[in-house]
Amino acid sequence: MPKWEMFKESLKKRASNDADYKDCIKDLLTNQEVRGLHNFVQHGNVSRLEHSLFVSYKSFLLCKKLGLDYCSAARGGLLHDFFLYNRKVEKPYKGIHGFAHPKIALDNASKYFNLNEIEKDIIKKHMWPLTIVPPKYMETLVVSCVDKYCATLEFANMGGKKNLIYLKKLAQI
Ligand SMILES: [Fe+2]
Ligand SMILES: [Fe+2]
Repeated sequence: MPKWEMFKESLKKRASNDADYKDCIKDLLTNQEVRGLHNFVQHGNVSRLEHSLFVSYKSFLLCKKLGLDYCSAARGGLLHDFFLYNRKVEKPYKGIHGFAHPKIALDNASKYFNLNEIEKDIIKKHMWPLTIVPPKYMETLVVSCVDKYCATLEFANMGGKKNLIYLKKLAQI
């Protein structure tokens, strides 16, 4: 296939993926509490909503490629850090943040949305292996790995910028 045709094909595929992605998460993104994640810094100069979108979109693409439940991965990924406080200033939990925040995120997500078992597992276990209980689903394993990958890029300020600009446009934030 000529290069121009290949380019056109890849654009078409991206547009179709983006339409699928939006369908999976649109009800989450209209929730004001979820949008409120944009008011908190997650890593470096990346907001918690940007980080969550990054994890959600990459997990969606990977799960789609692997033939997994990509919608649950996208939704669980978007809600995996659904906690609304500045962890450097406030401490509305007992113990260590790394262990405590998955449960807080799950409680918040359950308050606003009807979660399926995969989505619950993703949120609860995204910090694995720090939190000992292993993922029950492949989608959880994917989101957990993607979360670490995205966090590394964000911390190092490497390569994530272009993705974030694209995702912000996609999510209209
Ligand atoms: Fe987290
Ligand atoms: Fe995260």
